[in-house]
Amino acid sequence: MNAIDRAVDQFRTLLEEQIARAARMKDAAPAKDFTNLPTVTIGVIDGDGIGPIITGHSTRVLEALLKDEIAAGKIALKKIEGLTIENRLAQGKAVPDDILAACKACDVLLKGPTETPKGGTMESANVTLRRELDLFANVRPVKVPEEGIDWTFFRENTEGEYVLGSRGVEIPDTLCMDFKVTTRPGTYRIARAAFEYAKKNGKNNVAIVTKANIMKKTDGVFSEICHDVAKDYPGITAEDWYIDIMTAKLVNREQRGRFQVFVLPNLYGDIITDEAAQIQGGVGTAGSANVGDQYAMFEAIHGSAPRMIETGRGAYANPASILRAAEMLLRHIALPEKADALAKAMDSCPLTITGGGDGATCAEYCDALIKALA
Ligand code: IPM
Ligand code: MG
Repeated sequence: MNAIDRAVDQFRTLLEEQIARAARMKDAAPAKDFTNLPTVTIGVIDGDGIGPIITGHSTRVLEALLKDEIAAGKIALKKIEGLTIENRLAQGKAVPDDILAACKACDVLLKGPTETPKGGTMESANVTLRRELDLFANVRPVKVPEEGIDWTFFRENTEGEYVLGSRGVEIPDTLCMDFKVTTRPGTYRIARAAFEYAKKNGKNNVAIVTKANIMKKTDGVFSEICHDVAKDYPGITAEDWYIDIMTAKLVNREQRGRFQVFVLPNLYGDIITDEAAQIQGGVGTAGSANVGDQYAMFEAIHGSAPRMIETGRGAYANPASILRAAEMLLRHIALPEKADALAKAMDSCPLTITGGGDGATCAEYCDALIKALA
């Protein structure tokens, strides 16, 4: 078989798989209701590099914060071992089967950063977990109160440029093609999540961020569906923005405070949420929720920082991002007072983490939070 036929065959398989995925979305079960689960099981995944440090100390904070619920059997914290780069490479799987099964036995996950090998064919563990657990909404809040910034990004998390990112086609020595996928049910559910959030939180503006002038099919449909959903939310203005100018607007101090909620395809959401987190004080300060109807995973927005480990600065790793993710986890499982208590302890903590010898260690910072929460 020649290279073109092989590529065409591969494309057919991809199309069939994506059509089947879209059909499954249409028959999805209703979302899990955390207010009436007898026990909520929180799976804790360490990850790589600084992951075990920030996740380990953050778990101590959660254990202190939830000690009554844990004692009463309402909350169970369960460590999930083995999602390390070494084990994933040894098994040749982004998320080995036993680990995926352990994740599925939990209701929600708190996850440290995992390393993604560059090149090759191994998918990122994040991308695999988002797909396997169908975590379609990547919700990333960014706040700068003194500037009036209160943004919430709804990044589509299971399709776009990511869903087939490891499965492009190549005609050797000539060209390669990757694929971007927008399904109608996949777009309706992220659009609905963004507008519902806006409505419940008293927001009156949703920015639909695409590059629909260039990516006419995928982003065109994304924008069209967002506007269709917007019709059900009369008090909320839906605005179209292109990703390039939105990236510029976010560094425009005069104008950026007017934005509230953003809904956008996967890759644009990936990029712009790093920019937004940097405006808040750095990627180390922002939390991230990956939410689906059955599962949800809460994680640090940053990577595994291997350089911090190599240079012996691991103990100084900043747990703020994973703790902000833990705060979102607590809200998700219907414990808003616990989330508020954690946020308050963090906002009023006198210690500063700089990532080096002139700041507090991760352990000292978490000890201070535990003391404040007692
Ligand atoms: C993120 C990260 C991931 C992504 C990586 C680790 C695969 O950058 O969560 O934003 O690209 O989605
Ligand atoms: Mg990213």
